[in-house]
Amino acid sequence: MKKEEIRITVMISGSGTNLQAIIDAVEAGEIPRAKIVLVISNQASAYGLERAENHDIPTEIITDHDFADIKDREKAVIAALDNERTDLVVLAGYMKILPEAVIDAYEGRIINIHPALLPKFGGRGFYGLKVHQAVLDAGETETGVSIHYVTKEVDAGPIILQKKVEVRQSDTPEILAERVLEREHELYPQAIKKVIEEKGW
Ligand code: GRF
Repeated sequence: MKKEEIRITVMISGSGTNLQAIIDAVEAGEIPRAKIVLVISNQASAYGLERAENHDIPTEIITDHDFADIKDREKAVIAALDNERTDLVVLAGYMKILPEAVIDAYEGRIINIHPALLPKFGGRGFYGLKVHQAVLDAGETETGVSIHYVTKEVDAGPIILQKKVEVRQSDTPEILAERVLEREHELYPQAIKKVIEEKGW
């Protein structure tokens, strides 16, 4: 039996341009039956929260400050996901490592985007502009985007989709980040669609 709708929770920390790309793809019918049921942020000031509100998507803020004990934080995240009967958790610029209890509770149903060609330039410490700086320092001629399942090992879960992006001699980390981000916006909706198809939902 196919699911009537695929209930997606997106987790963010910041500007949420990937969230916006996913919202737009859902609204354009590019991810059939998908519905974004919740946006969770670990930052109260994340601009992505406004993007969600502009599209009448419920939001929840779960900060380390309010939930200093990791046990309370993981309970809060799992409760939020469960309350919305989440099928798929999409990490989109979520700058925290998810507590293991959340990964256990939603095993095989959490995906993440990373702005490089994993397994290169991934793992702890490779986030934000640091990734692009490392790519430039290594003299790479290409980098890219990876979307993968989240497992307990950071940035090491099975790859769902990857796309290459060229590195130019004149690139700074900021310019490269921008070129990669454009590809991220194209790729994330496609990856979500692929996951739904592969799972037979
Ligand atoms: C993206 O580059 C993503 O790969 C990384 O954080 C950035 C988030 O951007 N993990 P945005 O919040 O979606 O605009």
